[in-house]
Amino acid sequence: MSRYEYIAPCHFGMEAVLKREITDLGYEISNVDNGKVCFYGDILACARANMFLRTTERVMIKIASFTAETFDELFEKTKAIPWEQYIPKDGKFWIAKANSVSSKLFSPSDIQSIMKKAIVERMKSVYKVEWFEESGSAYPLRVSILKDVVTIGLDTSGESLHRRGYRKLTAKAPITETLAAAMIMLTPWNKDRTLIDPFCGSGTIPIEAALIGARIAPGIKRSFLAETWNNLIPRDAWKKARDEANDIMLNDVKMDIQGYDIDGEIIKAARQNANLAGVGHLIHFQQRPVSELKSSKKYGFIITNPPYGERIEEQKNLPKLYAEIGRVYKALDTWSCYIITAYADSEKYIGRKADKNRKIYNGMMKTYLYQYIGPKPPKA
Ligand SMILES: C[S@@+](CC[C@H](N)C(=O)[O-])C[C@H]1O[C@@H](n2cnc3c(N)ncnc32)[C@H](O)[C@@H]1O
Repeated sequence: MSRYEYIAPCHFGMEAVLKREITDLGYEISNVDNGKVCFYGDILACARANMFLRTTERVMIKIASFTAETFDELFEKTKAIPWEQYIPKDGKFWIAKANSVSSKLFSPSDIQSIMKKAIVERMKSVYKVEWFEESGSAYPLRVSILKDVVTIGLDTSGESLHRRGYRKLTAKAPITETLAAAMIMLTPWNKDRTLIDPFCGSGTIPIEAALIGARIAPGIKRSFLAETWNNLIPRDAWKKARDEANDIMLNDVKMDIQGYDIDGEIIKAARQNANLAGVGHLIHFQQRPVSELKSSKKYGFIITNPPYGERIEEQKNLPKLYAEIGRVYKALDTWSCYIITAYADSEKYIGRKADKNRKIYNGMMKTYLYQYIGPKPPKA
């Protein structure tokens, strides 16, 4: 069976979580870089990675990697790639995204058009046609150039994998599903421990936790671009991945996951989203301000994404709000607390320095993951 190299991009700062996910799926890591993890696998790996990885944005087949310092070089080296092995005669193909860092070639639109021309030239000579209808399935390519090294990936996911298919309604500043999952997977939380998100908004963190706890594959409710292809990936691979997802799901699991928010309307949306995700019965949602947060449970987890002053007028409320978080958390003395926020003064107002602090990029926005690590529960 053919072996491919895959590229899986992730949030900057979450590479270690994605690497662990890929290793747990049984694949060999080939490279870990800023914002991406590469791995080897057979063609079934494509379907399984799309179905099961919670923290990557997409899964790409790595087509080639080469050095190019001029557009001529880019054209010739792109043309030399056996594109017919990937794109059928009627395939619709284009460079969906090009980015360049610290390289001589930097104009994305020029990179895109030169590479498209080069692929057309190659395909013309192989398929013996002058014109491509491009009436078949889509084959979007994504190109990154780093220090003059061009890497080309063929996207197999289509719509970004953070779109699981359950979040129809969102809060003002929702966290992506992939980032929420990565954040939860960075903590030692497991389905037997209480989890509370006091600023749950549209419910992303509680829903992702419930999916993880019930072992529900993040891709079970959606389709993937490469499922429309008649080449490369046999239909059977997608069926196998779906069957596996259905087999490993825990059907009668019980969990204590709670989501609160001051905004009653957003709580209704969170409930709806959780129902769509198939985990509505596993989460207790309720309208409640953070000032009323309390629990009689021990060794629980607060995992949350509080307001960070997205709007100027909200910024003046942040000191009071973060002081409130500090006050309610103080009473939960056996609990751990993980807060992701772009608010740089969080620790100052919470009133306690985090045990660990990690920088994570949410797109272009720098955020901090403050980690207050509580004691481990005694062994049963
Ligand atoms: C950054 S958003 C959370 C987004 C959420 N993670 C999601 O994915 O939808 C912050 C949330 O905090 C809520 N909020 C603001 N002040 C609050 C307070 N005092 N108590 C509880 N919730 C509050 C807002 O209504 C908003 O939904």
